[in-house]
Amino acid sequence: MPIAILSALAEEQDGLVHLLENAQQTRHAGRIFWTGQLHDKEVICALSGIGKVAAATTAVALIERFGAKAIVFTGVAGGLGDAVHVGHVVVAHQYVQHDMDASPLFPRLEVPGYGRALFDCDATLSNALLQSVQACVQQQGGEWAEELGLGAPQVHAGLIVSGDRFVSGSEEAAQLRQSLEQADLAPLAVEMEGAAIAQVCADYGLPFAAMRSISDKADDAAHVDFPLFVQSIASRYAQAVIEDL
Ligand code: ADE
Repeated sequence: MPIAILSALAEEQDGLVHLLENAQQTRHAGRIFWTGQLHDKEVICALSGIGKVAAATTAVALIERFGAKAIVFTGVAGGLGDAVHVGHVVVAHQYVQHDMDASPLFPRLEVPGYGRALFDCDATLSNALLQSVQACVQQQGGEWAEELGLGAPQVHAGLIVSGDRFVSGSEEAAQLRQSLEQADLAPLAVEMEGAAIAQVCADYGLPFAAMRSISDKADDAAHVDFPLFVQSIASRYAQAVIEDL
């Protein structure tokens, strides 16, 4: 049974498919799925597109149609933590849907029917991913960051939040952080897919892990920083980290 490598955008996965031996593509549910071997491991690469629904559809297809036994997401995110800067990398330990709000029926952030807001990533797979990220950052991260005039990258592990919104304002980012802090949550980064995949993997009892390189600070400059970073650095992390996993 293959391990699935998922990203939202083509730029985040660029070059990864070329590393596959015996690569074969299948069209399904409006997406292209690439199957093949990477260092004798069966893998399947796919792009989810942007947002929680697109991510959930893709995760279900990976499991039901392609028999994925685990899902690893590699992509970019906006940095929310004070110490989380552009060029840094975050490995998720847990996920929350920051736009889930069925109050007053259920507490804000709680996913109805699950009795909780937090969805854990798989500890073993996340640890392997973290080690791979740390090695990659040590060996190549500094050089890549320098190309964009960024400082030495750091690796963080913790909470990532997802919602159907590109956060692109300092005030909005501060409000988001504050609203999560009120629920005793300290988010490191924000993106638009991971929590949906974490919920699907919880439903199916499948291991899930995710790493996100930080493309922007979810602030007033996010719309400028995001494309620059995505086009230049994001897929290098995907290739290096997955090869090493
Ligand atoms: N992915 C990368 N940057 C993001 C941001 N600022 N908001 C949501 N998703 C993102």
